[in-house]
Amino acid sequence: MNISPQIIEDIKARNDIEHVVSSYITLKRAGSNYNGSCPFHSERTPSFTVFPSTQSFYCFGCGAGGDAITFVMRMENLDYISAVRALAERSGVTIPENFNHINGTNEVTRQRVLEMNKDAARFFRNALFDSKYGAQAMDYLVNKRQLSTAVIKHFGLGFAPNSFGALHDHLKKLGYTDEEMVVGFLCGKGKNNTTYDYFRNRIMFPIIDVSGNVIAFGGRVMDNSEPKYLNTSDTPAFKKSKNLFALNYAKSHCENTMILCEGYMDVISLHASGFENAVATLGTAITAEQARIFSRYTKKVVISYDSDQAGQRAADKAFKLLQEVGVDVKILKMEGAKDPDEFIKKYGATKFNSIIDASKTRFEFEMDKILTKYNINNVDEKIKASHELCRVIANFSSEIERELYARKMAVVFDVPLTSVQKDVSAIIKRRVREDKSKEQSELYRITSGIGDRVNPESASNIRANKIEEAILGLMLLKVEHLKECSERLIADNFVTPFCKKVFESIVSIYKEYGKFDVGYIQDEFSFEQISRITKMLTERERLSVNDKATLDNLIKSLTNEGEKKSDGDSFDDIFDTIKNKKRTEKG
Ligand code: CTP
Ligand code: MN
Repeated sequence: MNISPQIIEDIKARNDIEHVVSSYITLKRAGSNYNGSCPFHSERTPSFTVFPSTQSFYCFGCGAGGDAITFVMRMENLDYISAVRALAERSGVTIPENFNHINGTNEVTRQRVLEMNKDAARFFRNALFDSKYGAQAMDYLVNKRQLSTAVIKHFGLGFAPNSFGALHDHLKKLGYTDEEMVVGFLCGKGKNNTTYDYFRNRIMFPIIDVSGNVIAFGGRVMDNSEPKYLNTSDTPAFKKSKNLFALNYAKSHCENTMILCEGYMDVISLHASGFENAVATLGTAITAEQARIFSRYTKKVVISYDSDQAGQRAADKAFKLLQEVGVDVKILKMEGAKDPDEFIKKYGATKFNSIIDASKTRFEFEMDKILTKYNINNVDEKIKASHELCRVIANFSSEIERELYARKMAVVFDVPLTSVQKDVSAIIKRRVREDKSKEQSELYRITSGIGDRVNPESASNIRANKIEEAILGLMLLKVEHLKECSERLIADNFVTPFCKKVFESIVSIYKEYGKFDVGYIQDEFSFEQISRITKMLTERERLSVNDKATLDNLIKSLTNEGEKKSDGDSFDDIFDTIKNKKRTEKG
């Protein structure tokens, strides 16, 4: 059964985009729109805008855009159906149990991958506890890593047998298709379309989300071979940038503090020693999305990375991202052990607790680092050190924090406070200028089509592409324009393949249902493509030259473009208006 447009319409009518968005981020009114800090990239000046009139959002910084459904899909890492369901629940709309995509594709769904993962996790666990397959793995965990059976069970650890088909055959018996196993990243595809188990002869760590779903796996070798870990890539049920290992347990122990580690093994060791507020990222450096997860669950994060150089460098990034989301961040100073797992084994939980208590603020951490790097009794080195520390201070967004750190620095460096303050403000001013010019060159890049991944053909058809986008924007803005375009234009009038596809999609839905909404096509287009479509709408809306005469001219111009005639130059005027308007808005 297909989703009826009526359901989408009901759901969108009851979930104003401004309300949906503001349950995740803080929005400020700006005229008839709202502004906020973009949740999809990290930024200093808010360029994320919500447009109530078109029920859409668009970020002028990173180009992310869409409607309430897109927003929830991206924030919660959900597929289309699940996002629609989440919004339906939020607003009390009932939707049929068996409803599906509007175009009824038989894509592998999130739900199916989750079921399969659960079955796979059972299979791995049984293999670990079955001495015929798992004896060596069990020996590794219990003797080499000193884990108790209780801890092994608590984390659902398992073992992937050294076989190319054991899991595949098991899942096949349970009714899963090869396609599902490949999409779910449990199997790879070899020559002649054969399917083989992806994880072999590895200790398996299931990644479990806060609702208890097994969303992915990490698989570790038991010796020193490479790669040490294999991890599930992104699937319909999993985005590694948006989840944390052990959050399912940590979430109920983290009101005040969370501990952020690098490794699965660190987290397991910490939980086993009573630090149940420990989590880890999933084989990558921390992302902005993960930082926001922390801000949702806790007030304070203690970064507890490995003590090697790589770990300390990674800590810099974690500091920055966590600070941006407003949690209190501290860093652990760990001496005598390479990571928390080793530290606990060597020195015990009480000692670990005391280094947690003694963890440093970012300012202290950075100042320490600078003071070890430079000898500030030497004038030249002292100047370099001051520049670095001023840059650190300029990173703090709170004026009070900057003031207090400036005072500290003035004392330690024995320089006048006013000098520190002046240097810090100069750095901030310069950064704002740099941000602005970066944004402008990004705008130029987008408008000139250079490096355009969504619509690569736009660069060689600049003028035609602008006309196409203007027309599509108007079609999205008002159903009367949509009607007119569907009567006067055909897909072949469109010059770039992307715009042609968008046109076809809009018109085919219009012809079937007499209306159109971006909400209907979310599963046909990628996030990047939906963003571009939203941009077309947003630009039309901002220009508000949405009258019939404009559209008439645009249509004539596009049909001329298609025939490679070169009149219709009057349209350059319209684009001049766009440019001028942008300029005045930026002021
Ligand atoms: N990692 C990865 N792929 C690798 C190496 C590491 O995905 N080839 C990720 C894993 O999530 C791992 C984390 O980075 O947990 C930290 O790496 P490391 O410290 O090497 O692993 P630990 O889990 O701490 O394992 P161990 O203590 O057993 O060495
Ligand atoms: Mn480690």
